[in-house]
Amino acid sequence: MFHIGDIEIKNKVVLAPMAGVCNSAFRLTVKEFGAGLVCAEMVSDKAILFKNAKTMNMLYIDEREKPLSLQIFGGEKETLVEAAKFVDKHTTADIIDINMGCPVPKITKCDAGAKWLLDPNKIYDMVSAVASEVDKPVTVKMRIGWDDEHIFAVDNARAVEAAGGKAIALHGRTRVQMYEGTANWDIIKEVKQSVGIPVMGNGDVQTPQDAKRMLDETGVDGVMIGRAALGNPWMIYRTVQYLEHGKLIDEPSVRDKMDVCKLHLDRLIALKGENVAVREMRKHAAWYLKGTRGNATVRNSVNDCNTRNDMVSLLDEFVLEIEAKQQSNAQAG
Ligand SMILES: Cc1cc2nc3c(=O)[nH]c(=O)nc-3n(C[C@H](O)[C@H](O)[C@H](O)COP(=O)(O)O)c2cc1C
Repeated sequence: MFHIGDIEIKNKVVLAPMAGVCNSAFRLTVKEFGAGLVCAEMVSDKAILFKNAKTMNMLYIDEREKPLSLQIFGGEKETLVEAAKFVDKHTTADIIDINMGCPVPKITKCDAGAKWLLDPNKIYDMVSAVASEVDKPVTVKMRIGWDDEHIFAVDNARAVEAAGGKAIALHGRTRVQMYEGTANWDIIKEVKQSVGIPVMGNGDVQTPQDAKRMLDETGVDGVMIGRAALGNPWMIYRTVQYLEHGKLIDEPSVRDKMDVCKLHLDRLIALKGENVAVREMRKHAAWYLKGTRGNATVRNSVNDCNTRNDMVSLLDEFVLEIEAKQQSNAQAG
């Protein structure tokens, strides 16, 4: 357990913010698998102030997901502060997170995301401006630096703390690395030792054992898990169990996986309507199917699904096919 401001986080396992993925449908599902904290996908400060319907829907929170961290991004103080004030007053998010790690050029060219990493003074200025205007705890998610020549992780983290930030999530890659190479856990450790506020370590936690290793090696307060949870909320459950009880739980059966995939689909339909949800769910279904034996054909076919019925029938047929194979193998054996 740890605290972010006055918000209690019941365990050390945190779902990372992921654009196009971490909406309420996925977050609630991951929460039910035991995550201590779930993070929402990033939302643009300007889009919040513009208040278009799509952006307002992105701010939807189901009370069962809480505690929840809602991430905003922007490159200008005025709009970021105003957006934070809106989130503070008009949502039930528990934490306001500022994105200072996004490496995508579309974002960094607006001085947002990872662009912040080049200037600890600017970070101090921005975080203090936001923190002084809102009641909810403010946190920052950052990368270790811009490139190998500009790794200001310790200075940046100290700036966040001095400005009143209540926690830091640190992805152990530079902006230039994007998602390549390996995450540098040594710098995560250095940052943890340099600040008094909680640090969540992030990057390359693919198994429950990785999570334990990150905690042991860096001393961070929490592990933030991103890609390993895609189509795989069991990763969160298995990690919590491993950290708390030292037990490595078996991987789920194909039927269990597809049941949760269908639950996720129905939640996404409730959130976005069938048309949009089924299209968005194609990538998730492929992730849920990943790692199951004999999935090549069905993984292709999900891309042609246009309705709930199409997708559910396809997944159900796949389960029956796999179970029949397992049964005949067992009989033959
Ligand atoms: C599809 C996708 C979307 C992402 N969107 C965001 C985002 O909105 N905000 C953010 O701070 N990081 C975002 N990230 C970065 C992740 O939060 C995380 O830092 C990164 O994936 C490394 O962690 P991992 O190795 O556990 O995946 C995204 C990553 C992925 C794969």
